[in-house]
Amino acid sequence: MSSATPSQTAPEPDLAALLLAWYDRHARALPWRVSPAERVHGVVADPYRVWLSEIMLQQTTVQAVKPYFAAFAKRWPRVTDLAAAETEDVMKAWAGLGYYSRARNLKRCADVVAAEHGGRFPDTEEGLRTLPGIGPYTAAAIAAIAFDRRAAVVDGNIERVFTRLYEIDTPLPSAKTEIRAAVDAATPEQRPGDFAQGLMDLGATICTPRRPACALCPFTETCLARLSGRQEQFPVKPAKKVKPVRLGAAFVAERGDGAVLLVKRPDQGLLGGMTGVPTTNWTVRADGATSATSAPFAADWRSRGVVSHVFTHFELRLEVFHAVVTAAPDHGGWWSDSDSLPGEALPTVMKKALRAAFPALFRKGKP
Ligand code: ADE
Repeated sequence: MSSATPSQTAPEPDLAALLLAWYDRHARALPWRVSPAERVHGVVADPYRVWLSEIMLQQTTVQAVKPYFAAFAKRWPRVTDLAAAETEDVMKAWAGLGYYSRARNLKRCADVVAAEHGGRFPDTEEGLRTLPGIGPYTAAAIAAIAFDRRAAVVDGNIERVFTRLYEIDTPLPSAKTEIRAAVDAATPEQRPGDFAQGLMDLGATICTPRRPACALCPFTETCLARLSGRQEQFPVKPAKKVKPVRLGAAFVAERGDGAVLLVKRPDQGLLGGMTGVPTTNWTVRADGATSATSAPFAADWRSRGVVSHVFTHFELRLEVFHAVVTAAPDHGGWWSDSDSLPGEALPTVMKKALRAAFPALFRKGKP
C-alpha cells in the first residue's frame, strides 16, 4: 500500500485564479453590476443597487428581475428615496415578482438604513444580518459584492458548481455544510466579490443543470464529475415531495361601468398585504370553499373556469366566478376601473383570476 506524500500529491488547482481569469473575459453585463473592466478604472459598486438586486434575485431569475430592477432604480435611485416612499407604492411596483414578504422587508430595511444608519448600508456580514430581510446568504453576497469583503457566498448555482467539482454526493440540503466549507476554502482574499459573481455566472451559463458546457469551463481539468462523466448526477437532490393541491374560489365582481371590485388581503399569510379579488380562505394546509354560495355577497355568479398557480409548498386551483352587479354590500374593498387596474398591487395568481373573467386583460409576461 502506498500513501501519498506531499511531493507525490498533485498541487491544488488555484480555483480563484482560474475563475477570475474566466470572469474577466465572460462576466455577464448586469445593471447592478460593476464589470471587471469598470473596476480596473476605479468604479465601485453601489451597495443600494447590490442589495436591491440580491433581494429581487432571491427565488427569481435574472431575466424576470431586470425590468423590476430598472423600474425601482429609476423611481427610487437611493435607499433614502425608498425609505421616503409609501409602502403601498412599493408593493404595487413589486406586484408580479412574487414572494411578497420580500417587498415588505425591502421597505422595512430601507427605513432602518435611512433612520438608523444615516442612509449607508453596514459594510460587514454581521452588520448586514441585523437588517430586515437579510439572511446569511444575502449578507454574504452583499458583503462580498458591494464591499469586497471575503465571504463564502453559496446560492443554488454555486451549490451545483461545487458538488460537481468535488463530487459531493450527500443529498441537499444536508450537503450545505460541506459545500459551504469548500466554497469558503476556495474564496480568495483579493476580489471575493468578483469570485462570487463569477461562480454565479459559471453556474448560470456553463455549469447548467442539464448539458453543461464543460469544454468551456475554467475548471474542466479538475472537476471530478466531469472527469467521471457524471456531471448531471450532481447536486444529489432529496426524494421529491409531491406538492399538495389546494382548492378555493375567487370572485370577480364587475360594476355596470366595467370597474372591478378589489380588496386588500390581510397583512399576515400568503400574499399578505397584496391586492386581489375576494376569495375564499385557502391556506397551505386547508382548502377554501369552492362554490358560489361562499361569495362575499349574493349575485348572479357564473363560473369562468379554474386557474392554477404553483406556490412553493402547494398548487392552488381557484374556480373563478364572475358577476355583473349593481350594488355590493359591505365588501370592504374598492372599485378599480380599467385604467387603474394595471397599477394595482396584483400578484400573478390574481391576474390569472382576472384574466379568466376578462381574457384580454394583462398580456402574459408583463409586470
Ligand atoms: N443571483 C443572485 N445574485 C446574483 C448576482 N449578483 N448576479 C447574478 N446572479 C445572481
